[in-house]
Amino acid sequence: MNEIKIFSPATVANVSCGFDVLGFCLDSVGDDMVIRKTDKKGIYITKIEGFDLPFETELNVAGVSALAMYNAIDVDFGFEIEIYKNIKPGSGIGSSAASAVGSVFGMNELLGRPFNKTQLTAFAIKGEAIASKCEHADNLAPALFGGFTLVKSINPVQILEIPAPSAICATIIHPQIEIKTSESRAVLPKEVALADAITQWANVGSLVHALHTSDYDLIQNSLQDVIVEPHRSKLIPHYDDVKKASLAAGSLGCGISGSGPSIFSLSKGLETANKVKEAIHKVYAETGIEFDIHVSKINTEGVKIV
Ligand code: HSE
Repeated sequence: MNEIKIFSPATVANVSCGFDVLGFCLDSVGDDMVIRKTDKKGIYITKIEGFDLPFETELNVAGVSALAMYNAIDVDFGFEIEIYKNIKPGSGIGSSAASAVGSVFGMNELLGRPFNKTQLTAFAIKGEAIASKCEHADNLAPALFGGFTLVKSINPVQILEIPAPSAICATIIHPQIEIKTSESRAVLPKEVALADAITQWANVGSLVHALHTSDYDLIQNSLQDVIVEPHRSKLIPHYDDVKKASLAAGSLGCGISGSGPSIFSLSKGLETANKVKEAIHKVYAETGIEFDIHVSKINTEGVKIV
């Protein structure tokens, strides 16, 4: 096999209380990529469609993660990467993560799978870091593993796969403004109050337990963020109104998707997720800001060959 086409999905990172550690994988949105072996040694980005991104390998997220893997192998050929980008950069649903994951997943398949998903995460972290200006894997791990994941550690990489009730659905609104992850990280405080830290880690623990035990009341009760949301929500127009409408329509919780501006809600069942969609639509339709809304099941498969 010399060429492979893959689908690399969008993700929701943080999931309210789990800043930089929790994430889940979306079903309906993602990038297509083609990875091809080439006689010339090295990594080459040969095509980018959808958005204006750099072709220079060292400046491109997919290129940098691919280089991290390429430097760890010894082969007498190279790889070409084509990126068909559907996830808008700076949207908060893991656009850079999808690129970083797609290239290393595709190369690994063409090489006969010498690396496992944990090792692929380590390569992808290098690509994601050029977009975020910091290393984290909460948006990469769900794209690679599917479902809900918890990043126990990035050095060494340790990813935990968390089972979730199959009825859980996400509603995502993406206001068409761009918030760069690096900027959204810059507004965060360097230190947090102990009382807030206690609340936050209690919520992370109880959310993980609730997902394991399909305890919807506890999921609802745990989807709270007292550390990051108060700072980042100010960057997202009408955030509080969206959250209020989402909860009133029956969602289990609502929070900032990754570093924003997208906002996610989790609901029990598609019907409620669609009601949440209608309620949020009503809020944003009055703002004059362009937006789109998706309803998605949790994608338990992650990045895949198409
Ligand atoms: N955990 C990251 C953040 C995800 O919120 O900054 C976005 O890259």
